[in-house]
Amino acid sequence: MAITVDDCRLVELPKVQDNRGNLTFIEGKRHIPFEIKRVYYLYDVPGGAFRGGHGHRELQEFIIAMSGSFTVVIDDGRSKRKFPLNRSYFGLYVPTTLWRELEDFSSGAVCTVLASTPYNEADYIRDYREFLEFRNRDVRSVS
Ligand code: TYD
Repeated sequence: MAITVDDCRLVELPKVQDNRGNLTFIEGKRHIPFEIKRVYYLYDVPGGAFRGGHGHRELQEFIIAMSGSFTVVIDDGRSKRKFPLNRSYFGLYVPTTLWRELEDFSSGAVCTVLASTPYNEADYIRDYREFLEFRNRDVRSVS
C-alpha cells in the first residue's frame, strides 16, 4: 500500500515533570522510527508566511512546535490533512513521499525538525506537478 496522509502520526513524547521546569527527550529509533541525522529549526517566521511547499523522495521527518504554534498541512496527491501543533511534548512523524506546507505561525513560534538524512537538495521535489507525477509513478509502500 502506498504511503498516504494517514501514515502521519502525532507522537506524545516523554515528559519529566518537575517544579523546576519540565523536560522532554527524544531518542532516534525509539520515539521516532528513524536515526536522527540532522536537526534544523525555523524561527523569526513573519506573520502570514508559509514554509515548506515541497515533497521528498526519501526524507522522513519529525516536526515539533518547540514554542508557539503553527499548522502542518500534509498532502499525498489525493488527500490533505492539517495537523495543528502547539505543544513541545508532541511531534508529528511525516514519512517519506509526502508534500508538506507549514502555515499559521504564531509570533515567537519555533519549529524544530528532526530529519532522517543530511540535507540533500536532490531529494526535494519542489514542483507540485512533478510531485503528482512522482506519486503516480513511485508509490512507495509502508515498511
Ligand atoms: P527549505 O527546506 O526549502 O525550507 P522550508 O523549511 O521552508 O521547507 O530550505 C530553505 C533553504 O535552506 C534552502 O536554500 C536550503 C537551505 N537548507 C539547508 O542548507 N540545510 C537544511 O538542512 C535545510 C532544511 C535547508
